Amino acid sequence: MKLSKAMEKQDQGLMKQAGMTGRLDDHLYMYHMPYSYTAEQIRKLRTYLFHMPDKSVPRVIMITSALPGEGKSLIASNLAIAIAKGDDQYVLLVECDLRKPSLHNLFKYPPSKGVSEIIQGTARIEDCLIKTPIDKLTILPSAQEAPANPSELLESKKMSSLIKELSERYSDRFLIIDTSPIQATVDPKIIADQVEAIVMVARYRYTKESDFKMALEGLPKDKIVGTVLNALDELPARKYKYSKYNYHKYY
Ligand SMILES: Nc1ncnc2c1ncn2[C@@H]1O[C@H](COP(=O)(O)OP(=O)(O)OP(=O)(O)O)[C@@H](O)[C@H]1O
Ligand SMILES: [Mg+2]
Repeated sequence: MKLSKAMEKQDQGLMKQAGMTGRLDDHLYMYHMPYSYTAEQIRKLRTYLFHMPDKSVPRVIMITSALPGEGKSLIASNLAIAIAKGDDQYVLLVECDLRKPSLHNLFKYPPSKGVSEIIQGTARIEDCLIKTPIDKLTILPSAQEAPANPSELLESKKMSSLIKELSERYSDRFLIIDTSPIQATVDPKIIADQVEAIVMVARYRYTKESDFKMALEGLPKDKIVGTVLNALDELPARKYKYSKYNYHKYY
């Protein structure tokens, strides 16, 4: 009891130092419950990525999926923590979902400048990086304010250049890139060109085979290293912000 109180105090100290505004979200299993079943599955994913037959260890990894709400951000975040917990492995978690950012809710930081402002030329990379209480894990948020024209921004060559620049500048780190759903936007396809590996996410009893197959089209097949079946089926279907793409019907 005494020990956990002391650890909590230490955690709070680290969060304050890192600019966090509250307790990290409970869904960050790798942080709160590193010995849980879910955390064990995330470690398995890390091990798999590090020991793929006939492939070198990918350093720039994108997490994507066909539909909204399949668990991309959660898996990207937990994977980033799992890698950062390894010996000498530094990680930059990059949020490339400009329309529906969620990492600030998981890691509890205030709205902060990031990818959007950098590619618009109003912020510098080094000024946008957010420290986390997890040693060796840094976050590049998506945007302080959601841009009016995210697709145009992302379609622009600037997004590709940014991923390239991040990967060159932080060549000692893993880059874990959280993206928006493939069926809603073209963003993941643009980002896919700049990454070394793509991890797909599908949600149990939620992702239809046809949606999944459609999502695979247009992605470079040789970069897809695997699919995480996010075995979560109790969540209620949620309405999604990208209404103009009209894919509530998939629910
Ligand atoms: N394995 C899981 N266990 C518990 N909750 C989960 C799990 N996977 C996803 N969730 C919950 O489902 C919701 C959607 O997850 P998440 O935001 O990671 O999905 P996403 O694919 O990033 O969504 P979006 O496409 O909207 O960005 C969140 O509330 C998250 O906490
Ligand atoms: Mg997400």
